[in-house]
Amino acid sequence: MADKMSRQQFLQYTSSAGAAVLLSSLEGFALEKREKKLKVAIIGCGSVSNRYIPHLQTSSLIEIVSLCDIKPERAIAQNKQYNVNAATYATIDEMLTGVPFDMMVTLTDMQVHGALNKKALLAGKHVWSEKPMANTYAEGKALLDLAKSRKLRIWGAPAVVNSPQFEFMSKMIQEGKLGRIASAHGQYGHTGPTWSAFFYEKGGGSMPDLGVYNMATLTGLLGPARSVMAMTSIVKPERTVDDKGKIKVAAEDNAHVLLEHDKGVISHVMCGFNYFDPHGHEAGNQSLHSIQIYGDYGNMRLIGYDWETNGVMLDTSWDKPAALMSKDKGGYEWQEGATKAGEALLKGTEPRVNVEHALHVLEIIEAARKSSATGMKVKLKSKFPWPVV
Ligand SMILES: NC(=O)c1ccc[n+]([C@@H]2O[C@H](COP(=O)([O-])OP(=O)(O)OC[C@H]3O[C@@H](n4cnc5c(N)ncnc54)[C@H](O)[C@@H]3O)[C@@H](O)[C@H]2O)c1
Repeated sequence: MADKMSRQQFLQYTSSAGAAVLLSSLEGFALEKREKKLKVAIIGCGSVSNRYIPHLQTSSLIEIVSLCDIKPERAIAQNKQYNVNAATYATIDEMLTGVPFDMMVTLTDMQVHGALNKKALLAGKHVWSEKPMANTYAEGKALLDLAKSRKLRIWGAPAVVNSPQFEFMSKMIQEGKLGRIASAHGQYGHTGPTWSAFFYEKGGGSMPDLGVYNMATLTGLLGPARSVMAMTSIVKPERTVDDKGKIKVAAEDNAHVLLEHDKGVISHVMCGFNYFDPHGHEAGNQSLHSIQIYGDYGNMRLIGYDWETNGVMLDTSWDKPAALMSKDKGGYEWQEGATKAGEALLKGTEPRVNVEHALHVLEIIEAARKSSATGMKVKLKSKFPWPVV
């Protein structure tokens, strides 16, 4: 109320002395809340910042105090477009020594995430990083160890485990509604980003950009993978992108990844930058089943994508048709990870997204590259707390 009404309006509304006392206590409360807001700095003010900035702004517990981009005009433009009222910087070093903040949100090219996240941790900042949180599993694990040693937190996207549909599917599996789980499949592709070259350069590729969602969903539902076999390829060796014109593609733009889970369960992820999909990124009405889970008593198919969930078809009967379940997204948005992690930091609670899960997915991506290059099955060492929900 103190936010919406001026002091004068409030006193006109009720002139009692009691109301004035109430007002001053509300103001005091608002001030206390303001002081308790988590101060966030965003690095990388490109495409995805158009999703993160407005989402972070929906939180009364978070304040964006800094925006940074090596193309500084982008930081300035986003500051203006979203009325952020933040300080703007051209380099991370300037930002780290500028306006104080608590958590950095990393939205830059994938290849520099690890180095930037390390700098932030060394400067005493918590980190939410877009995927991947580092370029290799070893680099990511070292970041987590560094964070722990400094009593800091680091998290990596995606936030697919937050959706009510993920929760529904996980509970169906955990409650044995599908019987003995055997197989699962996930797929995600489009015709590839057109704006930036990094998606196609070494360290980029469709696995860390797209397959990562299905890998997080399938391991989140079925448990950590023990080993990986994969085939990856480059279907389109040249692309034309906005920032660099015609480029040679160095990272895979087509991948099939087999995951071996415990108890004989096998899952499969296919992803790529050459998938015709008329819905593209506006997947609100997407009706395909992008995730399928099969057991010997039932199966489930996720409608939409795991990052843009529209419901789950549940089939557990020989004579009744499959039922459409869990249609309500409950406010879930794929870009909510930094907001939820930041709010959890402030409240002292634990968000559902777990950094060891992100590291496990990173190890899968690295193992898939190795398996494709060598033709060998690659064993994994990482685990994460499971079941997730
Ligand atoms: N675009 C999307 O819809 C989308 C969705 C989900 C996740 N992501 C992820 O978000 C990340 C960014 O993707 P994008 O599409 O926004 O790319 P983008 O190219 O549009 O933006 C990246 C920005 O980072 C800046 N940058 C690069 N290096 C920097 C550095 N060292 N310091 C400061 N700024 C730097 C670039 O100048 C650019 O403005 C990637 O990890 C991508 O996988 C993107």
